[in-house]
Amino acid sequence: MEIIKLKNINKVYNSKNNQVNALKDINLTIDKGELIAIVGPSGSGKSTLLNIIGTLDKITNGEYLLRDEQVEKLNNYQLSRLRNKTFGFVVQHFALISDYTVSENIEIPLEYGKVKHSERKVLINKVVDKLSLTDKINKNIKELSGGQCQRVAIARAIVNDPEIILADEPTGALDQKTGQNVMNIFKSLNKEGKTVIIVTHDSKIAGQCDRIIKIEDGRILH
Ligand SMILES: Nc1ncnc2c1ncn2[C@@H]1O[C@H](COP(=O)(O)OP(=O)(O)OP(=O)(O)O)[C@@H](O)[C@H]1O
Ligand SMILES: [Mg+2]
Repeated sequence: MEIIKLKNINKVYNSKNNQVNALKDINLTIDKGELIAIVGPSGSGKSTLLNIIGTLDKITNGEYLLRDEQVEKLNNYQLSRLRNKTFGFVVQHFALISDYTVSENIEIPLEYGKVKHSERKVLINKVVDKLSLTDKINKNIKELSGGQCQRVAIARAIVNDPEIILADEPTGALDQKTGQNVMNIFKSLNKEGKTVIIVTHDSKIAGQCDRIIKIEDGRILH
């Protein structure tokens, strides 16, 4: 079943004195339950593509169908609702709040999603357990290692039970073994039925995905 369909997408960034065509005529269909790697040189448009898929960034022209929603027709309120219930985001440098505890960081999307306080604890305990962070739940982010931070970032991305997980170089800051552990978490989420899209520079990580999308200078290579 198709979950994401991009038709002739272009993304142009306009700044004062230059124009960057970050994505050029992208056509891409992703099925529910796929595990996908996006690879390509620095500056080729990988993060731009991921951000567009995640509705964090708007397309310049083309068409984006998310299930049967035409994304470019939604207003900001509708988009933020859709984003919160559909996507879990994992970024390279974790983007955790360092003065908050593990539990407080994981709670953030539940707050946005207006989940009742009484239900939050149950959901947080569930993901913390899944990512083997139970003994760290009340620790500050500052007190954790890189691999533990990345697991907290994944916990935060999945606590809302999103259908689609988007990860931008989730293993980029980790050593190989810790990176593989993180990849194993993505693989098991994928086995549970989640659609997982991972931007990576690491061919070992990409090689474990069902499909590799290569992008160069804003275009998908076939
Ligand atoms: N907000 C922005 N404003 C202007 N140009 C941008 C913006 N974001 C990205 N770009 C440009 O768009 C192009 C693609 O950037 P993008 O971040 O998608 O690359 P990337 O493939 O993720 O690279 P990396 O591997 O280094 O993360 C680059 O030329 C970049 O300079
Ligand atoms: Mg990038």
